[in-house]
This record gives sequence, C-alpha cells and structure tokens, in this order.
Amino acid sequence: MKFKIFRYAGEQSRYDTFEIEPEAGMTVLDALLHIQARLDDSLAFRYSCRGAICGSCAMLINKVPRLACRSQVSELVEGKVKDKVTLKPYAAIEIKEPWNKEDEVLVEPLPHLPVIKDLVVDQDKFFEYYRVVEPKFKPGDEHPEKERRMDPADMAELEKYTNCILCAACFGACPVDGEKPEYLGPAALAKLYRFYIDPREKDHESRLLQANMESGWWACQFHGNCKQVCPKDVPPILAIGKARQKLQEIGETP
Ligand code: SF4
Ligand code: FES
Repeated sequence: MKFKIFRYAGEQSRYDTFEIEPEAGMTVLDALLHIQARLDDSLAFRYSCRGAICGSCAMLINKVPRLACRSQVSELVEGKVKDKVTLKPYAAIEIKEPWNKEDEVLVEPLPHLPVIKDLVVDQDKFFEYYRVVEPKFKPGDEHPEKERRMDPADMAELEKYTNCILCAACFGACPVDGEKPEYLGPAALAKLYRFYIDPREKDHESRLLQANMESGWWACQFHGNCKQVCPKDVPPILAIGKARQKLQEIGETP
C-alpha cells in the first residue's frame, strides 16, 4: 500500500510516496511510525496517546481532517468501506496534486494552521481562540456546603460538548476558518455553549454575549463539516444555532 505524504520545505514543499505492507488493524498513525522507523526518520508528525484521547494526531487524511490513530488504513483505500464523510468543499481540500485514490492514502497537515514541519502544525491560534471563551467553570457560589447536584437530563446535554478532546479537526474542516482567519471556530464556540447551558454557572447571558461578535457566533455559515469530522461526535453546529436563536430572542442581531 502506498502513502503519499506532504513534506514541508517552504517553497520547495513536496509529496513523498512510501510503499509498505499493511498489517491487519493498522492505523494511519501505525503506518507513519513504521515509515519513520524503517524508511525515513526525518518524517515529522505529532501524536501521544495512540487511543483517540489526547487530540494531537489530527491531520488531513484523504482530504478529510481525522485522527491518524483512529483511521484504519483498510478503510481508506480499495473502496472496501465507503467513506461516510462528505464535506462541503473548501479551498484546503481541493485536489491539486495527482492522487490515485484506489491505491494511495494521501496524508497532509491539518488545514488553517501554519505548518511547522511535514504533518506538524502550529496550534497556537486554535488555543488562543479557545482561551478567548474562558473555558472554565464560573459558579455563583464559590464554596458550596454540599456538592452541586445535577439533573441527569442537564448532564446529558452538557456531555455532548464536554467530550471534545481539542484535536482541532473541526477547525481544519471549517470553510469559514479558511476564509476568515479571525473566526473563533467550532470547538471554542461549542465549549462556550457548554458553559452557557451549565445550570451551575452564575451569569448565563454574559456567557452568550462573550462571542456576540462577527468573529464569534455570527460568523458560522452552517456548512456542518465540524460535526462530520469530530471524532467525539461533538455537534458545534447545533450549539452555534441554539446560541444564535437565544441571542435573537434577547434582541441581539449580527
Ligand atoms: S469539537 Fe470535535 S473536532 Fe472539534 S476540537 Fe473538539 S473533538 Fe476535535
Ligand atoms: S495520538 Fe492521541 S488522539 Fe491520536
């Protein structure tokens, strides 16, 4: 099986093709580790947990942002398993290089973030936007006498958003983040919504208003790529839609 991999070298960036014999159950991360260990030790990529938990191995695989450690190579070539993801097209996933889909796995860095080397991107902007929404609990009572009991239904609603592992796949999949670099992006807004709906938070409206700006809730164009690529099934598009509805109810408009 062939892996066509982006190699960053500024203006001289290129694609290298490596051929390996895939083992049963091999993931794209396994393949990259194999290539690095046996064929080219200069290949750079980021990973840590190898179990879809740390969020560090997100990259563009066959033109879809995915976790390398969660992508089975057997599902990516030869049409054995139909790729269920159908992304709304955007510039970063246009096919510019010759790529034989039947025979090659195409591996590129996550879009919308600067490349440091090969498949490693600089995530600073993603985390800077994440910090803008102040992703921490702000309760009304700092030191309650008893634990704060939660209604199971409220917990279930919160958990849709707390499962985010900050992989930035949604950021790389969002056409708006490609066109409008100041857009906070799906993950930051989903996290803000999570705090907005938390019954234990002190001031819900202030949370809503925190992203009441052109680069916040109002920038989303509801393409839905974020929800499709999220490895944890977080639905940022749903959070953004509900937040905008609430803003309109209190008289806020774009
Ligand atoms: S919302 Fe999903 S895709 Fe986006 S950063 Fe979180 S886990 Fe990754
Ligand atoms: S290596 Fe941790 S999510 Fe893939």
